[in-house]
Amino acid sequence: MRLSTTWQAIVLVSSIDAAAGSWATLPSSPTIPVKTIEVTIPSSSLQSLQEDLSRVRSFPLTYENTQTDLRYGVTANWTTQSIAYWRDSFDWAKFKQRMNKHPNFAANLTTPAGDLMEVHFMGLFSQKADAIPVAFFHGWPGAFLEFIDLLDLIKTQFNSSSSPYHIIVPSLPGFTLSSAPSPESSWGTANTSALMDDLLLGLGFKSGYIAQGGDIGSFVARTLALTSESCKGIHLNMIPSIKPDSAPPIANDSTITPQDREVLARSQEFFETQQAYAILQGTKPSTLGFALENNPVGLLAWVGEKFMAWTDPSHRLSVDQILQFASTYHLTQTISRSFYSYRETSNTIVPIFTPSPYINKPMGYSRFPYDNTGVPERWARDLGNLTFYKAHLEGGHFAALERPEQLWEDVKEFIDGAFPQGHF
Ligand SMILES: *[C@@H]1O[C@H](CO)[C@@H](O)[C@H](O)[C@H]1NC(C)=O
Ligand SMILES: *[C@@H]1O[C@H](CO)[C@@H](O)[C@H](O)[C@H]1NC(C)=O
Ligand SMILES: *[C@@H]1O[C@H](CO)[C@@H](O)[C@H](O)[C@H]1NC(C)=O
Ligand SMILES: *[C@@H]1O[C@H](CO)[C@@H](O)[C@H](O)[C@H]1NC(C)=O
Ligand SMILES: *[C@@H]1O[C@H](CO)[C@@H](O)[C@H](O)[C@H]1NC(C)=O
Ligand SMILES: *[C@@H]1O[C@H](CO)[C@@H](O)[C@H](O)[C@H]1NC(C)=O
Repeated sequence: MRLSTTWQAIVLVSSIDAAAGSWATLPSSPTIPVKTIEVTIPSSSLQSLQEDLSRVRSFPLTYENTQTDLRYGVTANWTTQSIAYWRDSFDWAKFKQRMNKHPNFAANLTTPAGDLMEVHFMGLFSQKADAIPVAFFHGWPGAFLEFIDLLDLIKTQFNSSSSPYHIIVPSLPGFTLSSAPSPESSWGTANTSALMDDLLLGLGFKSGYIAQGGDIGSFVARTLALTSESCKGIHLNMIPSIKPDSAPPIANDSTITPQDREVLARSQEFFETQQAYAILQGTKPSTLGFALENNPVGLLAWVGEKFMAWTDPSHRLSVDQILQFASTYHLTQTISRSFYSYRETSNTIVPIFTPSPYINKPMGYSRFPYDNTGVPERWARDLGNLTFYKAHLEGGHFAALERPEQLWEDVKEFIDGAFPQGHF
């Protein structure tokens, strides 16, 4: 047995901050090693980033990088200003405090191949014996950070003695604070899902849990629903726009709403003009990894473009928010480990979608219209036992960051509807 990677430099094990209080107490004895940790940023990593940022030269202006509608990607202006903000104004102490706002943990798990993997997660644990565990899975270029505001909100609604929910927010294997899969064999969504199931069972949730996710997290949730007895239901905030064979053609389907048409048009536009990044991440992840590792400018442009393009234009994320994600990927040196799921979904220019088996468990779907893909209710029904559906008028791909209240209200309504007795 061996640890398959050097567990990222930025985490130090320490006792949990008193302010985290009893939310940090696991409801029962875990069957895997678990430690509370404090996320910290070694000064050597920060200094090296600071040096890189101070050496950035000015960018030659081009026709493409001066189009302010982001048609060709991020602009020279945005990049210059964001780099300057990163170098001169980004508040590292505040960022570190934010990452430690909720209890952080590390757990050790062993893969079927015998590799030891340390998985990071944030958690808010209830002391109620029958509280329902809900695992929130992030996507790309997301991270556990996506859910900090949502956890803030939960703490305003419940205390740890009475909360009807346990909240678990893992860093997916390979991403940011979780260790990397072994380089000796391929790793994909099935491996990630199996490890996440082991994590949740190892934490003591043998009687079941709910899985929530958008983006890559939605595929993890779907896989868990199909493979684990313990996954009792899933809530998704992204479903790729693929028409099921059983659904009538859009033109003939009287259940299609005007907003459905807008969502489908947006999905089509994404498919036709915006998914080159995914095909690159799926076909040449190695080369792209070298272009972005050790390169804060490249990394910021690559992920910053997505944070801007996939959000509701009436409520864009701030440069500070985008830099929190770029900083986390850069400092943990994990951007090149974050592409693996694209090898499965975007490995050719015209990926062949194999229909996935029907999910015979309660499934919720919240559609945020500025996401890059989405489906009408009728199409979602084809995927699983849709017990909750809501089409929002605002919000985009990063629902937890953009609209934490709406997402959390939906997740609660889904759970309360599917499990009215308050437990499994
Ligand atoms: C860049 O930003 C500045 C300040 O916001 C603005 O005055 C200038 O017109 C912008 N230049 C371009 C090429 O967009
Ligand atoms: C996981 O195992 C490694 C190697 O033995 C050890 O350094 C680390 O502290 C362990 N982590 C936890 C959470 O037990
Ligand atoms: C926790 O919340 C419940 C329900 O609102 C309340 O009855 C209880 O007094 C609270 N406990 C603490 C320690 O604040
Ligand atoms: C991922 O899962 C497959 C299928 O079970 C397995 O062959 C492979 O070794 C796993 N990858 C790693 C790195 O464990
Ligand atoms: C769709 O509607 C058109 C016009 O009413 C009709 O000709 C066509 O057969 C319909 N197609 C299907 C698959 O129902
Ligand atoms: C769907 O889930 C609901 C809630 O658990 C359940 O009552 C219903 O029987 C399920 N429907 C099917 C077709 O499985």
